[in-house]
Amino acid sequence: MIRKAVIPAAGFGTRFLPASKSQPKEMLPIVDTPTIQYVIEEVVAAGITDILMIIGKGKRAIEEHFDRNFELEAELEETGKQEELRAVRRISSLANIHFVWQKELNGLGDAVSCARSHVGNEPFYLALGDTLIDPAARVVREMIRAFERYQESVILLEEVDRAKVGRYGVVGGKRVGAGLWLIDRFVEKPKPSEAPSNLAIAARYILTPEIFDAIARTKPARNGEIQLTDAMSRLVRERAAYGVLLKGERYDIGNKLDFLKTNVAFGLRRPDIGRDFRKYLRKVAAEL
Ligand code: UTP
Repeated sequence: MIRKAVIPAAGFGTRFLPASKSQPKEMLPIVDTPTIQYVIEEVVAAGITDILMIIGKGKRAIEEHFDRNFELEAELEETGKQEELRAVRRISSLANIHFVWQKELNGLGDAVSCARSHVGNEPFYLALGDTLIDPAARVVREMIRAFERYQESVILLEEVDRAKVGRYGVVGGKRVGAGLWLIDRFVEKPKPSEAPSNLAIAARYILTPEIFDAIARTKPARNGEIQLTDAMSRLVRERAAYGVLLKGERYDIGNKLDFLKTNVAFGLRRPDIGRDFRKYLRKVAAEL
């Protein structure tokens, strides 16, 4: 059973400057809700209520977002804004969220290692705080089902254009079922000619606690960062790892184009503005 989730959200977000200079990219809104809140809701919907978030300098807004704001609540109560009040209270009661600081930003592997004492000796769900998956509930369910069956690491995989594999962590292995791979290789940002497949790691993992020793033994990559993919590459020599294929979308909010796409996709489904937004998009499309 997976009881704990770890959400790294400490990164600089250089791809989203200048917006990410003084605010965390994880707080960028998709319509009216910060990205990180969707990630928390995904985790909570999976039945996980113990959440550790890895944050760093300049990320206080994330903590504040999940804390109670009594002044705001009083104001909403006084002005009779019941719906807004419910929404604001719900955020702070979503889950039991803990925070730990990554002191120096030495990469995703280093960020995950900050979770070691909180996670202890149990498997955990790892969700990158700047990335959404859709439909989240079904995808997480499939990953948890695979973990319950094999009791080994489970990685979400996305098929990407072969020419673009150099942007991702990529896996190699063999297909062992519908949408299921037994992974035997992990490579961080390979050249297309050297990539073992076009299956990219898609920001969601179920990891066993052996990952912490593997990270501790992993040397920094050329850019000085400790890559989680390199630690996985080490671990897969000793333990099996499975890949579940994403049947849906992955949105990396730290990437400007994905940010815009996500706002369109989520905006269209909104009961309050979806119809008008669709009408507006039709008009824009007709003029293109
Ligand atoms: P990214 O690969 O997007 O890196 O991190 P980044 O530094 O945040 O962004 P860019 O590339 O400069 O634009 C993926 C996830 O891992 C976290 C990030 O916050 C993001 O959720 N991360 C990354 C950390 O927590 N610590 C790190 O040292 C690096």
